[in-house]
Amino acid sequence: MKRNFSLGNYNSFGVKHKANFFIEIKNKDQINDIINNKKYDKLHKLILGGGSNILFTKDYNGIVFLNKIKGIRKISEDDNNVLLRVGSGENWDDLVEYCVKKKYYGLENLSLIPGSVGAAPIQNIGAYGVEVKNLIENVEGIFLDNGIEKKFNNKSCEFQYRDSIFKGKLKNKFFITSVDFVLSKIKSFNISYRDLKYLDIKNISLNSLRNEIIKIRNSKLPDPRDIGNAGSFFKNPLVDRTTIDKIKNEFNDLVYFKDGDKFKIPAAWLIEKCGWKGYKENNIGVSDKHALVIVNYNAKKGKEIKELSKKIIDDVKGKFRINLIPEVNVI
Ligand code: FAD
Ligand code: EPU
Repeated sequence: MKRNFSLGNYNSFGVKHKANFFIEIKNKDQINDIINNKKYDKLHKLILGGGSNILFTKDYNGIVFLNKIKGIRKISEDDNNVLLRVGSGENWDDLVEYCVKKKYYGLENLSLIPGSVGAAPIQNIGAYGVEVKNLIENVEGIFLDNGIEKKFNNKSCEFQYRDSIFKGKLKNKFFITSVDFVLSKIKSFNISYRDLKYLDIKNISLNSLRNEIIKIRNSKLPDPRDIGNAGSFFKNPLVDRTTIDKIKNEFNDLVYFKDGDKFKIPAAWLIEKCGWKGYKENNIGVSDKHALVIVNYNAKKGKEIKELSKKIIDDVKGKFRINLIPEVNVI
């Protein structure tokens, strides 16, 4: 167990807050040892994967578990599908690359999303027309208050757009230790997303689709290794027809997409319309590549970033009467 440990290298914003206690977790027994130890059982606990969807705004007063539970295992297979059990501390994009190499179809559109496998169900990661909820069979883990193990089937994960039971009522209470994925062995691609429409379905392979996605993502999003960020800072808001009509009266270039019986407006469009794209103040700002990405040029503390996010929320609310909800987990 490390004390007063700097989290600077463990969060993609690169803020330099410290954790009171910090430990790398490689297996379930280690989790049980800590929660059964009188020295630690009452302390606050936080599970950290790649730190790519988290904003620390102060030092963490408790234990940070750095998840390094590894392993990819085939549980079953038939002519059509394969079921993989994956340790939650595996790197997400390494898993996608592994599946592409093995010719398991399903995860390729989620290429290059940073972070760990265990965090994928937390906010039901999604990109380029695919959400991970469509490929998850079970999520297994341990309750941190009593050490009880539980397996959640897909339905009981309560997946929604950028949300699940693990981001809601089980936040910081349940340590996800492995995730089971059902992948297809039958060739099929999802190129329905608007940015992929130019592809010719007859000429793509798993590998070429993965490479296209990587190319598009690199052109749109700043790389956290160059500039601190956590991807989209906010969720895209879902609104009703009346809101769309009202905004369209003033802005005939409004971008929106039908989503069930609602409409999704890109938060980036709203933020850009409020003039924030490329904004810079002292050590932080809004990416000039993508208006939904708050960037950290050199801030040591996360509080400044949180304050900027609040200014953006207020501005969008004032101009459009729409409440932006952070996607990033603010601690
Ligand atoms: P962390 O940031 O370490 O943790 C995120 C949350 O999950 C925290 O609340 C943490 O406590 C909790 N948590 C982590 N692991 C566990 C566990 N094992 N058990 C219980 N709780 C846990 N997201 C998308 O959905 N789509 C994208 O296209 C996308 N693009 C991105 C691009 C960039 C450049 C960046 C920086 C981020 C992007 N993200 C995207 C967000 C982020 O990559 C995902 O949310 C990812 O799943 C976070 O993984 P992580 O391991 O880094 O999670
Ligand atoms: N747009 C702007 N200004 C910008 C950028 C985009 O107005 O600076 C508008 C454009 O009209 C564009 C639209 O926003 O067509 C959508 O942009 P983009 O395709 O980049 O997607 P997004 O809605 O901003 C979402 C996810 C991303 C995911 C991409 C691709 C959310 C909150 N974000 O972004 O996920 O990679 O789609 O599927 O849903 C993340 O969650 O961290 C993340 C990066």
